[in-house]
Amino acid sequence: MARILITSALPYINGIKHLGNLVGSMLPADVYARFERSRGNETLYICATDEHGTPAELAAAEAGQDVASYCQEQHIAQHDIGRKFGLSWDWFGRSSSPQNHRLTQHFAEVLEARGLIEERLDQMVYSIDDNRFLPDRYIEGTCPHCGFEKARGDQCDNCGNLLDPIDLKNPYSVISGSKNLEVRDTRHLYLLQTKLQDRIRAWIDAKTDWPLLPKSIALKHLDEGLIDRGITRDLAWGIPVAKDGLPRPGFEDKVFYVWFDAPIEYIAATQEWADETGNDWRRWWRTDAGADEVRYVQVMGKDNVAFHTVSFPVTILGSEEPWKSVDYLKAFNWLNWYGGKFSTSNKRGVFMDTALELLPPDLWRWYLLANAPESSDTAFTWEQFQSGVADLADGLGNFVNRIMKFTDSKFESTIPQGGEAGELELKLYEDVGAALADLTAQMATIEMRKSAQALRVLWTLGNQYLQAAAPWTAIKTDPVRAAVVVRTALNLAALYARVSAPFIPFGSEKIAEGLGVSFPPQWPGPDIATELNQLTPGAKIATPEVLFVKIENEQVAEWTERFGGAE
Ligand code: MF3
Ligand code: ZN
Repeated sequence: MARILITSALPYINGIKHLGNLVGSMLPADVYARFERSRGNETLYICATDEHGTPAELAAAEAGQDVASYCQEQHIAQHDIGRKFGLSWDWFGRSSSPQNHRLTQHFAEVLEARGLIEERLDQMVYSIDDNRFLPDRYIEGTCPHCGFEKARGDQCDNCGNLLDPIDLKNPYSVISGSKNLEVRDTRHLYLLQTKLQDRIRAWIDAKTDWPLLPKSIALKHLDEGLIDRGITRDLAWGIPVAKDGLPRPGFEDKVFYVWFDAPIEYIAATQEWADETGNDWRRWWRTDAGADEVRYVQVMGKDNVAFHTVSFPVTILGSEEPWKSVDYLKAFNWLNWYGGKFSTSNKRGVFMDTALELLPPDLWRWYLLANAPESSDTAFTWEQFQSGVADLADGLGNFVNRIMKFTDSKFESTIPQGGEAGELELKLYEDVGAALADLTAQMATIEMRKSAQALRVLWTLGNQYLQAAAPWTAIKTDPVRAAVVVRTALNLAALYARVSAPFIPFGSEKIAEGLGVSFPPQWPGPDIATELNQLTPGAKIATPEVLFVKIENEQVAEWTERFGGAE
């Protein structure tokens, strides 16, 4: 039995996430966690809300709340909606936890002792009317690269360039709109990433099994050359900059930059989990306490890759302490909303809460995963969604329903006994074995589209088998043969519940329940004859009601109207 640690990028606290956020991190991480658990591996899936930085402060201000209570409320809301989507986190923490405060301050102290953090004199934009500095998103203005007039201090949403607030033209304060700004000197801590450049490159070079996307992003940053990064900000909300357990002189009004403390929360959230449940976090994170046996997998959108392949490794490796670092990194491209971006601030696209008001979670999970933006960006449209989810009703649902209803009517809802596997069954074992081997391999590397395709192949095999074996004909002339076919098909339905569960846990559980299979289920082994003879002949089944609904044309029309599309 292996030990598998999984983290998905921590969602920002500023509101319920959209479907693009979901499919780019939390959802595939959940599929992988469910898969590894069902293979019998000791698995820990950790996530948390990312609660610091200007997005949190700005969203709280817009909601008219103080930041602490805003974060508290939004954390609960995101936790709640994630559970409704079936996200099987072992812990969903908060980057504002006391554990993260302690650990972030610890890392800063250790890194400084190792000569990897130094104080530098910086120039920052100060708002005289607001009486404060304006870091990152607190300042907007015209992009020096493309002329976009609402570029944010840290990044231009139009051309994507990363910006320094002092480069903006015609800058104004996001708080008051004031243009009464000046550049002032202020001291900040810098993480000296340049010093670890070679070490990080060697570490990345050794990741020979990584998918292309994260590896190429990491190498691109290394080729461009690492830069030393400011890791403190002039903000009130965040993790205070401490020295020897006391506020650091000159840094009383500063906190750590959100991207410094957020990844450290992966570890701190595990501590939160351990503190709450009486578990040991060290065996997951400290290589001197057994974590060298852990396989650590991270899942994230492509914009997060640099932070996970450069900045966070600098923190971890630079500390020279025995921390576990990532073994396998899976990254996703963007899911777009029709031609453009999903946008939290402009409320463009469907968000997790609205999605569940329209349809059950399995339909969303299936469509999003089967069409995950793996090799390129993809776009959501209602039409493609409608045809994409039809796989569930037509492929899986139809098969399960047909065979269970037939069992109800011809075998008194009882798994039939007697008879032996014939040629068709042996051929089925072989085909199912091949598809299952493919599925298992794709799941192990978090290839979502290919896994979905292997599932479709499996479901099709069942429908083809029923068509060829035709139990409705056999029952009239050869009831023993009919019994073999029905029993085989019921076992196949049970196998589907077991292997589909990571993608569509809710429907799979209904099927498993109806057939008396334990849930969460066990992943099948390679001996298919055995796997397709698991159900006890003579036992009763209970046919579930509708498993998967289909989307009607009227719904597509209504939702297109309601949520907008191309415009
Ligand atoms: N909140 C960030 C985002 O949504 C991701 C943070 S990942 C972490 O892009 F590792 F830093 F926590
Ligand atoms: Zn721009």
